[in-house]
Amino acid sequence: MFHTPIAPRVRKRSRPAEAGAPRREGVKFEDVRLYLVERKMGCSRRSFLTQLARSKGFIVEDILSDVVTHIVSEDTQASSLWTWLKGCELKNLPSVHVLDISWFTDSMREGRPVAVETRHLIQVCDILPTFPGGPTATVSQYACQRRTTTENNNKIFTEAFEVLAESYEFNEIEGPCLAFRRAGSVLKSLTFEVRSLGDTQDLPCLGEHTKELIEEILRHGRSFEVEKILSDERYQTLKLFTSVFGVGPKTAEKWYRRGLRSFSDVLTEPSIQLNRMQQTGFLHYEDISRAVSKAEARALGNIIDEAVHAITLDAVIALTGGFRRGKEFGHDVDFIVTTPEPGRERSLLPDVTDRLEQQGILLYCDYQASTFDMSKLPCHRFEAMDHFAKCFLILRLEASKVEGGLNSTEEDSRGWRAVRVDLVSPPMDRYAFALLGWTGSRQFERDLRRFARLERRMLLDNHILYDKTKKEFLAATTEKDIFAHLGLEYIEPWQRNA
Ligand code: CTP
Ligand code: MN
Ligand code: MN
Repeated sequence: MFHTPIAPRVRKRSRPAEAGAPRREGVKFEDVRLYLVERKMGCSRRSFLTQLARSKGFIVEDILSDVVTHIVSEDTQASSLWTWLKGCELKNLPSVHVLDISWFTDSMREGRPVAVETRHLIQVCDILPTFPGGPTATVSQYACQRRTTTENNNKIFTEAFEVLAESYEFNEIEGPCLAFRRAGSVLKSLTFEVRSLGDTQDLPCLGEHTKELIEEILRHGRSFEVEKILSDERYQTLKLFTSVFGVGPKTAEKWYRRGLRSFSDVLTEPSIQLNRMQQTGFLHYEDISRAVSKAEARALGNIIDEAVHAITLDAVIALTGGFRRGKEFGHDVDFIVTTPEPGRERSLLPDVTDRLEQQGILLYCDYQASTFDMSKLPCHRFEAMDHFAKCFLILRLEASKVEGGLNSTEEDSRGWRAVRVDLVSPPMDRYAFALLGWTGSRQFERDLRRFARLERRMLLDNHILYDKTKKEFLAATTEKDIFAHLGLEYIEPWQRNA
């Protein structure tokens, strides 16, 4: 874990210059593209450093564009540098490393791009004004003020935190559970790997317990507390039972207390009555516990798109959930489907599922009719579920519909697999709120609502944004409108993997 080279953050997105670019002589580090900022450095020093870096196999770009992965500056006045950078209109600025000269000199000395550490970073300071709390806090305590891509540089810590959070969740101890999720989310947003406790010094949301854990992992490469939980029978059993579609922590706990430890214990226990959802969960367990790939999500998008448009030509369909955030794999695929015709969205989903049934691909459908009533809002108590019409489905996906084939095991010769799909159908004027609410991540949503409540005296949920000071609902047709009402910089879906 200590030897991971720099993770070039933009490599997954397309680089326009890459396709036709000539291969450069002597290039050793294809994934790293430097740009040296002339301000403060001066023209002659810049050209000297450029020559030096190129002689050591680095790519140095003459022009600042979206192909650049590492910006190096001798201007340590973060605010003026960032003001200038923002004026440059780079699309991937949030994922570029903005570094002071120490990273450059370290890298020249080592003859390779050294890993980016906190001390190298010239940190963004645009979020400071909203923090009367302290000018040193450069990473916000709110996930909705951080940009978190799918590239997690601190997996070793965040996975450990998640085990602890889950274990607290199984024991219904909410405080520490949320604290570990919040801490994990902060580490996920970092563009560098934490390599010493000092690296975490200025970070928010890290308590005593989390810091101890980080220290233990830094020292031993693992945590004994986490390992103890992982080998705990109760944890293992609850984890196993809750992995079944339709089995939540309550049911899992009930089965555990009855002495059941395995699926066969559950399935052969005469006193246990499985509901329809759980029966389906066991029936398709292998399939739905296997990740859904992007190609499979695309194929399902085509199927849903075809179905809704066959029902109404003016249908609107949007991919949401993890795949909208750019994840490569998901546990399901989430879509919003609606129509501009007021009231029509209430009966859209039953029509869609009827059609899927006729096509013989509807393996399971849990439909929940709309209970949405604008006159009952705002609801001051937080509800886990929104009131829109929605359905939780399991669909049969044919291999022939998936480019590159199914994500299945080699010995599987059925030619199809079962996949979980969620559809939600808000009225058109609620579209932006529903899209924002269903795009996630859960931690991002939690912090959006917390930010709205605590920093803005507003209530946000999947239906509305309500200003408690003005006592009025704020209208929005796009997600950008909602961020603007909240006085937040817009965060792209792929930066919401908090
Ligand atoms: N959501 C919601 N109400 C529900 C179910 C989900 O608001 N009844 C929201 C959640 O806040 C979440 C998003 O919908 O942010 C997607 O939920 P889910 O599919 O469970 O998670 P993903 O982020 O898509 O992760 P995965 O890839 O594992 O599916
Ligand atoms: Mn999902
Ligand atoms: Mn879902």
